[in-house]
Amino acid sequence: MRLITVVGARPNFIKVGPLIPALREAGHEADLVHTGQHYDAIMSDVFFRDLAIPEPRWYLEVGSGTHAVQTGTAMMRLEELLAVERPDALIVVGDVNSTLAGALAAAKLHIPVIHLEAGLRSFDMSMPEEVNRLVADQLSAMHLTPTREAGENLLRENVEESRIHFVGNIMAESVLMHAADARLRAACRSHGLEPGGYVLATLHRPENTDHPERLAAVVAAFAHAPLPVLFPVHPRTRPLLAEHGVGLETSNIHLADPVGYLDMLSLQADAAAIVTDSGGVQEESCMLGTPCVTVRRNTERAVTVEVGANRLVPAEDDAILAGLVEALDSPRDWPRPDRWDAVVATRVVEALAGGITPSNGCEGQAYPHGAARAASSTASSSPSAS
Ligand code: UD1
Ligand code: UDP
Repeated sequence: MRLITVVGARPNFIKVGPLIPALREAGHEADLVHTGQHYDAIMSDVFFRDLAIPEPRWYLEVGSGTHAVQTGTAMMRLEELLAVERPDALIVVGDVNSTLAGALAAAKLHIPVIHLEAGLRSFDMSMPEEVNRLVADQLSAMHLTPTREAGENLLRENVEESRIHFVGNIMAESVLMHAADARLRAACRSHGLEPGGYVLATLHRPENTDHPERLAAVVAAFAHAPLPVLFPVHPRTRPLLAEHGVGLETSNIHLADPVGYLDMLSLQADAAAIVTDSGGVQEESCMLGTPCVTVRRNTERAVTVEVGANRLVPAEDDAILAGLVEALDSPRDWPRPDRWDAVVATRVVEALAGGITPSNGCEGQAYPHGAARAASSTASSSPSAS
């Protein structure tokens, strides 16, 4: 099959690491399009290097913007590309704006959408990712789910059972592929810290960063944590710390730029505990055996809490510190969730071998030709090839 996969943001790159080689090995013509949602070398290039991901064939230079500007620009450029390339299916991964843009552009061209990491739900419509997940799943012809619960969520939303394939968690496969190399790095030493002697923190969700009192509470908890806190700061968080006047001048907080994937796995593996609001970090810490404290009201990664790897706390300094103390004291022998293993991409290939049933009403209607003609006539100016 001719398959195009859309990536745009940091967590997307990690999800396609094991996928593209498996698709190519199975004989599919599999290419990547990078929307350019994340563009700094440390938010993008480093992941292609660390995970040996093939170069994207197309780079759409979408960049930053409001949700509508970013999603709309990505949609327009993807429509032009898809109208010319006409793949047999478009694969979208995760829940970022590039995921939504890909699903919308392809569905309107009657190109089957395959969603990898389908069915996760936080049941919190204030999260942009929840909106993206819901829409992408409604538009998808094939749903590749990371957990059994994700499949149950889709069934409740009237997705036909035959479209749902429980392939497992592709982030887990990436961890298993790279953890041994990452552990050799002891990346904490280049931050002046020793294995087991620090807490690792990440923070980028608007529910925390866009509320000055919550951001200040999280930073206050870091300042009073029982171990030094290593905090690689996401580019959206850094200006907000300054804008909200949140002081970081304490010797207990070690600020850093974002780090690459292998260094991040090393830092997670060697941390005594992790404090985060990241989806991917909740999963990776569960795989690496490091207890996690998630500063959020809810999580679509509930399985990590159920197995005992993760706990949810509100963005209040006392609650974060109590969660951290509990995490530091907790046993690390939780069971790994079902199908969080090293053959997730293989299961994706098996699911594809069963064929893709077009979305209802799209059977036998390859493309709406008017739309394809209109889009392809403007395709010479963009998208730009990489
Ligand atoms: C996006 C995703 C979020 C995901 C996160 C992963 C959406 C709605 N959000 O959030 O689900 O968890 O990526 O990290 O898709 N910026 C840079 N350099 C870059 C990229 C971004 O400086 O390479 C800055 C820009 O100021 C930009 C801001 O970060 O405005 C936010 O970037 P954006 O991609 O819009 O959202 P994220 O917060 O990164
Ligand atoms: N990550 C990284 N360097 C960092 C912070 C995160 O490599 O400085 C990785 C992390 O290990 C995980 C992914 O980025 O694989 C998660 O991305 P992020 O937290 O930005 O997004 P989310 O998963 O919340 O959508």
